[in-house]
Amino acid sequence: MRDITTDTITEAAQQSWAQAEDPRLRHVLQRLVHHLHAFVRDVEPSHAEWLAAAEFLWRCGRICDEKRNEFALLSDVLGVTSLVDLMNAAPGATIGSVLGPFYSDDSPTVPLGADLSKDNEGDVVLLTGIVRNLEGRPISGAIIDMWQTNAAGTYATQDPAQPDENLRCKQVCNADGRYAFTTVAPGPYTIPLDGPVGALVERTGRSPWRPAHFHFIVRADGHRSLVTELFFPDDPHVDSDAVFGVREPLVRAPRPVVQGEPLRVPLQRPPGRRLDFDFTLVPVTG
Ligand code: BEZ
Ligand code: FE
Repeated sequence: MRDITTDTITEAAQQSWAQAEDPRLRHVLQRLVHHLHAFVRDVEPSHAEWLAAAEFLWRCGRICDEKRNEFALLSDVLGVTSLVDLMNAAPGATIGSVLGPFYSDDSPTVPLGADLSKDNEGDVVLLTGIVRNLEGRPISGAIIDMWQTNAAGTYATQDPAQPDENLRCKQVCNADGRYAFTTVAPGPYTIPLDGPVGALVERTGRSPWRPAHFHFIVRADGHRSLVTELFFPDDPHVDSDAVFGVREPLVRAPRPVVQGEPLRVPLQRPPGRRLDFDFTLVPVTG
């Protein structure tokens, strides 16, 4: 098209992708053009503002490396990561939540009843429960992959002062589908503030905090892997998570362990409190 005007440019830009062979890619690109143009028509940015936006994205790119993806963080603070998670939720499964950037696949596999609290500060908490299928039956051999911060809100994978494998583990559930380990309660922390996304959050007066949480990936053969988190109701940041990861069913208070109560598995270390949480996985379809 030769006569490009504000009236014709959106259609022209959409049409320019019409030859894309992959129908899904074609659809996504054409809808992206549609929504981006609508955004620009709505916001009416000046040249200087549009350049500032491009420079912001350039700064995001400049700070990325093998371990850091500032664009993922941008998606997190805009609520897009959580929207995608929520839209892809499997009916009947435990609700998912964000993966975040601090997961590492190489956590040590520990036996049932293991203690992760070791020399970390904080009360010893038993984390235990059963991994079930949609029918409520335990899934023997399901794998729990857990990672968390220490009480100061720092992950081992970002803190050279902690042992490399601190406060993270994989555990194979027993014949009853049960997992159980003792640990300490994690602390809240802020999203990374040394990059353009953190600067934007701070400049706009938004809270940069994530409420304290345990992260989990739960896997089992023939089932959809579940990425989720657990939060605490008394956390000061539970209603203002910077990345919108909190879901009501994932907010749980540990309770004191009553002397003599059955703990179901032998534990390496006696806990003061316990948090019981069962996970439900759905079968892989298709
Ligand atoms: C996390 O929970 O590890 C996390 C998630 C999103 C952004 C930053 C951290
Ligand atoms: Fe986290």
